[in-house]
Amino acid sequence: MSEVDFLIEKFDLSPHPEGGYFKETYRSAEEIEETALPNDYKGSRNHSTCIYFLLTSDTFSAFHKISQDEIWHFYSGSPLKLYLISDNGAYSEYIIGNDFSNGQVAQFVVPGGYWFAAKTIKPNSYSFVGCTVAPGFDFADFVLPERQELIDKFPQHEDIITRLTRI
Ligand code: GUN
Repeated sequence: MSEVDFLIEKFDLSPHPEGGYFKETYRSAEEIEETALPNDYKGSRNHSTCIYFLLTSDTFSAFHKISQDEIWHFYSGSPLKLYLISDNGAYSEYIIGNDFSNGQVAQFVVPGGYWFAAKTIKPNSYSFVGCTVAPGFDFADFVLPERQELIDKFPQHEDIITRLTRI
């Protein structure tokens, strides 16, 4: 059995719409009412949620955005590169991994409202990571744009958007 198949089975991972596999591992019992949340949330949300996320090198996590900050944690496998575009079009890249003496970090926070994508760095490998958010995740807050829509918004980033979108 490959390490990827082992992780999928061991942690009961399912395909994610952005690419890769995930399993929600935590959803707080408590909820925040809509009236106490910023305006972009419709309905209440749990205080916080956490997932395992597994990405293999033959695919990518496509550009998407959520309303809240997302904390990424590196667990095992290849380092993973995060590609960010802020709403005003500023582009940046960060690597999470465990080669700490070469600038990699074990945690990285993607700011809420940023468009972001991810790719495993090493060929024939995978990245096993975690993602924590507060307020808790709800697919109602998840935006997976079409390639052309994102290129129209950020024509200066056409190349990376074309590489890291699939619809
Ligand atoms: N739960 C389901 N999908 C996701 C995701 O993309 N991020 C987080 N943090 N939780 C999720």
